[in-house]
Amino acid sequence: MIAIKVNGKRHEVDVTPSTPLLWVLRDTLGMTGTKYGCGISQCGACTVHIDGVATRTCVTPVSTVEGSEITTIEGLSPNGLHPVQEAWLEEDVVQCGYCQSGQIMAAADLLSHIPDPSDDDINAAMSGNICRCGTYGRIRCAIKRAAATMRGEPSARAQGEPQASPVARSHGGGVPAALEKEVSQ
Ligand code: FES
Ligand code: FES
Repeated sequence: MIAIKVNGKRHEVDVTPSTPLLWVLRDTLGMTGTKYGCGISQCGACTVHIDGVATRTCVTPVSTVEGSEITTIEGLSPNGLHPVQEAWLEEDVVQCGYCQSGQIMAAADLLSHIPDPSDDDINAAMSGNICRCGTYGRIRCAIKRAAATMRGEPSARAQGEPQASPVARSHGGGVPAALEKEVSQ
């Protein structure tokens, strides 16, 4: 048996030590908010926080996280929505939704370390989280909105910044250069 702590609750799971944490979360514990995308640490869909750090669970053996605090999308904000989740709703980020729990966990980690991220900070933190629907522009807007909220400031949008045009929104409002090739495939 391997003991892990997920969203503040201790679980004993009867799996082999090398089992990826992703499968323990999804199949053993039934927490399906964390997604399987690639299985080789290339897409970010499986991102959770381990001791506060965004981590890819598809390549994390469960035995390596005994004694750690694991936080999934289900436990990101036990009492209502996290500011990042609120910003995601306000910016209408989601398209198909498949990548989004990983995106939100990566963004929440970014904002816990950098309260006022620049575009370069956002690129560095988020460029490994792939979105096949190309929601990158809205993700960037939502991160900036959440950052302002968490700093106790009105968001740029609340100060009169216009919303992205319907065309820009339907195409995701822009794709980081490093991801253009991936998204076009
Ligand atoms: S499923 Fe883990 S990074 Fe893609
Ligand atoms: S919203 Fe569809 S993959 Fe990102």
